[in-house]
Amino acid sequence: MDSSTFILCVLLLVSFTLGLSRNTCPSIQYIAKGTIGMVDCHFKEGFHAVVWYNSADLATGKTIMQIIDGVKEGKGYDSGEYDICSNGSLIINNVTLGHEHNYTVVVLHSQNEDPILQQIKVVVTVMPSMPFPIVDQCGERKTICHTQLQHDSRLMCLVQNARPAVSLLWVDRTAGFDRNISFQTSVSENGSIFTTLATTLQPFPYSSVLSLLTCRAAAPPGLLLKQTTTILVESSNAKIVDLVPIVQHLERGSQLTLQCSKSNLSLVLWKKAAQNGSMFQIIAYAALLEEDVPVFYTEQYQLQKDGSLVLSEIEASQEGLYRCVFEYDGTGDAVLYQVVVFESLVTAVPVVQGCSEENYCILEEEIRGTLTCLLNGIRPKVLLEWKTFHDRDAPLISFANQRLDVTSNGDVYDITLTSTYYLKATNKDRITLECRISESHIRALQSATKFDIIFVNGMKDLFQLFH
Ligand SMILES: *[C@@H]1O[C@H](CO)[C@@H](O)[C@H](O)[C@H]1NC(C)=O
Ligand SMILES: *[C@@H]1O[C@H](CO)[C@@H](O)[C@H](O)[C@H]1NC(C)=O
Ligand SMILES: *[C@@H]1O[C@H](CO)[C@@H](O)[C@H](O)[C@H]1NC(C)=O
Ligand SMILES: *[C@@H]1O[C@H](CO)[C@@H](O)[C@H](O)[C@H]1NC(C)=O
Ligand SMILES: *[C@@H]1O[C@H](CO)[C@@H](O)[C@H](O)[C@H]1NC(C)=O
Ligand SMILES: *[C@@H]1O[C@H](CO)[C@@H](O)[C@H](O)[C@H]1NC(C)=O
Ligand SMILES: *[C@@H]1O[C@H](CO)[C@@H](O)[C@H](O)[C@H]1NC(C)=O
Repeated sequence: MDSSTFILCVLLLVSFTLGLSRNTCPSIQYIAKGTIGMVDCHFKEGFHAVVWYNSADLATGKTIMQIIDGVKEGKGYDSGEYDICSNGSLIINNVTLGHEHNYTVVVLHSQNEDPILQQIKVVVTVMPSMPFPIVDQCGERKTICHTQLQHDSRLMCLVQNARPAVSLLWVDRTAGFDRNISFQTSVSENGSIFTTLATTLQPFPYSSVLSLLTCRAAAPPGLLLKQTTTILVESSNAKIVDLVPIVQHLERGSQLTLQCSKSNLSLVLWKKAAQNGSMFQIIAYAALLEEDVPVFYTEQYQLQKDGSLVLSEIEASQEGLYRCVFEYDGTGDAVLYQVVVFESLVTAVPVVQGCSEENYCILEEEIRGTLTCLLNGIRPKVLLEWKTFHDRDAPLISFANQRLDVTSNGDVYDITLTSTYYLKATNKDRITLECRISESHIRALQSATKFDIIFVNGMKDLFQLFH
């Protein structure tokens, strides 16, 4: 009787009387195909014997190999397929699918003690093509992304070529916690490896303009690096086209803060268009109600906890339309800002042609003529206009053929206003006029230059002639 047969006999006897003893080996173990795998156990150093069997049923199972008083033997050992560690664990030198079955290990701590029997289920794993669930709209590289979808669109989540089959679940995280949503799932097999697909039936189960959906995988340990992929879905049906912008004027270099909304938001999505008519690009998005906020920042912008967008020093190139789409309590809305960046006005004052800049300007002109006013180095583009300094003089002079020329000069503009004028019937020969920036809402841009015009050969002379 060889020693393993002896142990088996002893064992069959005790297993009837003692039943299975306490675990020192995890009862389900996952080992990766194509690697050197270990069926892990830990027996006290100095054990007398460890025997591994290739089945849970010792009546039909065969001995793989054994170690008795430090001596290893058995068919599995001789062929080089198996080995045993000093703590009793079984080593599989090249794991194949054929190694996926139940094992029994028997340990005898000393010749006089009762043998201890353990059963282990081994599952052979195959790493999926990508180590995280792939959401079709995110591509194969991203575990968080954004997309725009119709309300009846579907989202697919996939774990490809894995073993064992991974199960997938879609949940809605719009409110900051998981809510079940309906989805369809299927598993296909190809040569003992599995592909799992989960498809949502509609992307806005609990919300109207934005929703945050997570595809979550349940996989054995080690199979995936990341169990979830999250997608922020924006409704492409949302009526945000007709928004009237709130105009914000900001001096270059100052801080931009745009508030999305006053209410408690769950999701915000900021987009920017350089100017009216250009495409809106994503600049930031975030889920605001969670601890582990999945936020996407660009290099330049920051998001505050309430969803406000902050830019510490605004540049002229950052002018444009900023749109925030947000979701709260199952409803959504959007806000649009038009951000206009202006230069400080220290040097930009209108200059009337023919005036010297040092003295108060008095022009001597005919009762009909042309006036030109220049404003160089201003931002943003503004309109210039002529105005009588005293309102009561307004009916006395009339301007026509106004032409405004704007040339761009780097970030700033040079603006020229040219107009013809004529003096209406009056006996006045001197009027105080202004060339000024018109229709500007920016306090800092309220700039005007005052000058007098004396009319030679004016109406006064004519009046004197006839009276
Ligand atoms: C058993 O020994 C092997 C090889 O030394 C080691 O990798 C493994 O972690 C050990 N198992 C336990 C449960 O300590
Ligand atoms: C492991 O087994 C596979 C399949 O039998 C074989 O193709 C591969 O070469 C083996 N690897 C090693 C390191 O022996
Ligand atoms: C392996 O053992 C498990 C219980 O741990 C049992 O459910 C399963 O059917 C067994 N598999 C085989 C192939 O005997
Ligand atoms: C959500 O789905 C999971 C998995 O199907 C289930 O265990 C859980 O009970 C469900 N929760 C609710 C609130 O229905
Ligand atoms: C099954 O897998 C093999 C290789 O692993 C591949 O060539 C074949 O196209 C797959 N079949 C299907 C239906 O995906
Ligand atoms: C926002 O949330 C806080 C705390 O959850 C609550 O006390 C407050 O009333 C909410 N405000 C609004 C406008 O819903
Ligand atoms: C954008 O341009 C269109 C037509 O060109 C105009 O109707 C609309 O008011 C403009 N919107 C803004 C925000 O300037």
